[in-house]
Amino acid sequence: MYDEINFEKIDLSLEPPAKEPERQHYFIAKLRRYVEAERKRLDRSVTCAVVTFGCQMNARDSEKLSGILETAGYELTEDENADFVIYNTCTVRDNANQRVYGRLGHLGGMKKKFPHKRIALCGCMMQEPSVIEKLKKSYRFVDLIFGTHNIYKFAELLVTMFESKDPVVDIWDSTDQIVEELPTERKYPFKSGINIMFGCNNFCSYCIVPYVRGRERSREPEDILREIESLAADGVVEVMLLGQNVNSYGRNLKNPISFARLLQEVEKIEGIKRIRFMTSHPKDLSDELIAVMKHSEKICRHLHLPLQSGSTRILQAMNRRYTREDYLDLVQKLRREIPDLAITTDIIVGFPGETPEDVDLTIDMVKQVQYDNAFTFLYSKRTGTPAAAMENQVPDSVMKEGFDRLLNVVQDTARKQIRRLKGQTLDALVEEVNEQDPALLTGRLSNNTIVHFPGDKSLVGKIVPVYLKECHGFYYAGEIQEANNG
Ligand code: SAH
Ligand code: SF4
Ligand code: F3S
Repeated sequence: MYDEINFEKIDLSLEPPAKEPERQHYFIAKLRRYVEAERKRLDRSVTCAVVTFGCQMNARDSEKLSGILETAGYELTEDENADFVIYNTCTVRDNANQRVYGRLGHLGGMKKKFPHKRIALCGCMMQEPSVIEKLKKSYRFVDLIFGTHNIYKFAELLVTMFESKDPVVDIWDSTDQIVEELPTERKYPFKSGINIMFGCNNFCSYCIVPYVRGRERSREPEDILREIESLAADGVVEVMLLGQNVNSYGRNLKNPISFARLLQEVEKIEGIKRIRFMTSHPKDLSDELIAVMKHSEKICRHLHLPLQSGSTRILQAMNRRYTREDYLDLVQKLRREIPDLAITTDIIVGFPGETPEDVDLTIDMVKQVQYDNAFTFLYSKRTGTPAAAMENQVPDSVMKEGFDRLLNVVQDTARKQIRRLKGQTLDALVEEVNEQDPALLTGRLSNNTIVHFPGDKSLVGKIVPVYLKECHGFYYAGEIQEANNG
């Protein structure tokens, strides 16, 4: 593993190796020299901030960026006054982009006052040519720009940045590389996300992810299991397996393996107590997976199953490849096999051609499925996707009306679902000391519900039984149930 690498011993008088990850190890060693020189010049530690926009996959990428920066000698901070700031961007909806531009303007202002400050941008938004044009024209103070496919070259790109007078811009169209064995800095010591695959092949007609993340590539199961074993040895008790569509994991490997089989292997790893995964595409959720979940001691009782729309006509236009009936059948099967399963979802309102009657169908689905939670989004037109070229775009006011109607039902249903747990005692993984009240701890149940309860901070990272006393809307107030030794 990388923590056994002695970076001081890497001979920088030699040419950089061609092979990965050795090449990046060489550049980390080189980067350490630059950071050390900066530290001497400033006569204080050199700081950096990694700011994440977007999904859990981006959050995991940010942990990799942080790992490399820390290994290079930077001190990590959340303060954007840092000497080096990198934004890991998202472009799934336009408001994500607008947030980046807004905050970037602010960073530019800081750099005017502190010219030694360095600014970098990476992530999904950078894979869009129109974004790069805009940045080159109007945000010339950005020192380094790269995309999703060459993120594994971060150390090398930073060295180029230090050695170049001009901004460094390096965007690739695609990659077939999956580079293992780079340093990672985890946000929580006791839980971690793990990429099991990258990219997406589904091309839902509204979605930009396949264009900015490339084709689906699965990691080898051995690499995934080795990573989880070393996380477990390092104190991690909960893992979240990450992919845009985990249900198609492993199909394109030289030795194909199903997602359900992978889960069974993860289950065997000692020290891991909880397994989560995200996201499941309904069209690929197999009976094998349901059976594995049902009999598992470790797989959490939570499934995120994006619906997107309850209207078969809209689902077809979205290229989701299931009908309303398919989805309902699947939910029935899940409820029958795993009665204590919490189901959550994503829904889009305002897809081109959607009528108020289609929204009624979506609302009816929410009532039938009884989601524990649903993330509702206003449709956002993404340039280059098939839906953006559709003629019957829905006016904003109609979209908003449908959205508000849906949100009401979603919230009512979620409150009702959560209330049903009242009076039970369930295991919670203690995640942190409550921000508002330091006498309280915040824990998460297997079904993803949050519970606050009095307790000592030494319990963070532990799993404790909690009595669910009072339901406050979307979360619980509880009490630790002392073990009954009698
Ligand atoms: N791979 C996951 C989701 C990735 S994006 C899946 O297939 O479920 C997360 C959510 O963003 C999607 O589920 C969808 O509800 C929403 N989304 C994606 N593109 C969108 C767009 N153009 N406008 C509004 N919401 C969008
Ligand atoms: Fe986007 Fe569909 Fe792929 Fe999810 S499955 S990332 S919504 S294209
Ligand atoms: Fe956003 Fe990229 Fe994730 S577009 S949702 S950060 S894959």
